[in-house]
Amino acid sequence: MSALAKNYNRRKISFKMGKGSFLYSTDGKKYLDFVQGIAVNSLGHSNPYLIKAINKQAKKVWHVSNAFIIPEGERLAKRLRQKTFADYVIFQNSGVEATEAAIKAARRYFYSIGKPEKNRILCIKNSFHGRTLAAIYASGSKKMTEGFGPKVPGFDHFNFGDHKGLKKAITKRTAAIMIETAMGESGIKVIPDWCIRDLKKICNKRKILLILDEVQCGIGRSGKFFAFEHAKIKPDIVPIAKGIGGGFPIGAVLMNKKVAYAMKPGSHGSTFGGNPLAMSVGNAVLDQIFKKGFLKNVQKSSKYFISELRKIKEDYPETIKEVRGIGLLIGLQLYNDQTKFIKKLEDNKLLTIRAGENVVRILPPLNVKKQEIDLAIKIIRKVCSQLN
Ligand SMILES: Cc1ncc(COP(=O)(O)O)c(C=O)c1O
Repeated sequence: MSALAKNYNRRKISFKMGKGSFLYSTDGKKYLDFVQGIAVNSLGHSNPYLIKAINKQAKKVWHVSNAFIIPEGERLAKRLRQKTFADYVIFQNSGVEATEAAIKAARRYFYSIGKPEKNRILCIKNSFHGRTLAAIYASGSKKMTEGFGPKVPGFDHFNFGDHKGLKKAITKRTAAIMIETAMGESGIKVIPDWCIRDLKKICNKRKILLILDEVQCGIGRSGKFFAFEHAKIKPDIVPIAKGIGGGFPIGAVLMNKKVAYAMKPGSHGSTFGGNPLAMSVGNAVLDQIFKKGFLKNVQKSSKYFISELRKIKEDYPETIKEVRGIGLLIGLQLYNDQTKFIKKLEDNKLLTIRAGENVVRILPPLNVKKQEIDLAIKIIRKVCSQLN
């Protein structure tokens, strides 16, 4: 019997190898992997360029701590600064550490300008920002907080799409609004560009900070480096993780100048965050994502994939309620619970994962090939026909 605690509902498959879009199970089967570690392996499994980068760095130095200058991290931060809204970066190891750091940075900013009472963070009810105590209360989900009280104070909520409710929920004590630019776990709900722009205007008007959680939708997944770039705005703080490490655990919080100035020496830290090994992988991921045409290709794959999925929806309107998403963060919303559908896909050697609202979440690597999308489409169509 496994000595691992039972906090995960694991599927009964394990893998011995991965290559690009495919995973090979220990019992000899080949799967098309459109989970990719939940939007983590942005360049697929065993990417040769990443293997080279990690091997090269592994022979030099792995970890030194943030007591010293880390040139690989300096370089990664500088590249993020050059390509994005960010002026400064703090590296972490995971998404939730990045969202926590974002919350801390927002509070610290108001503290630094003599307004420590402005410390509340306004979030969407039933969103997802990770699993630490602060993050589960930020997410405002009953299920995630069950049994973990007492409640962490400092978070307010409004319902997805409730613009009036959002405005009403802002008080004198609100420091920041924190939302996922495209909501992943809660059902692939993309916030429209005009909403993001409105949100930015509201934040400017009420003099509060805008935190856009791009842990899942960032680093090229949306077809742009950041999903908020579609709306042509600049947030104040952006937590990232997942795709930046391509499978190696990296998190980071990106900030503009005014926020970053409040993060004085000693205000925040991490033992592992930003170590040379992680930073070398992060730089290698950026080498690929910043390559000319890479993001255009993500957009092209997305357009093709979504249009093919919509054709299936037309043929099976009683099974598929909606095809939605942005870039290669794609959701098939079903009328019924998606468990059986996902299992059938798996039986047909396509791996996908659930999200809220009966959604089958589809997360190919960003460098997915057209014939791999075609294979997925064929399997999804077959499963729709089997279930009809
Ligand atoms: C939007 C968002 N924020 C934060 C997190 C937490 O990231 P991690 O699981 O790396 O802590 C996730 C993870 O799925 C996420 O999707």
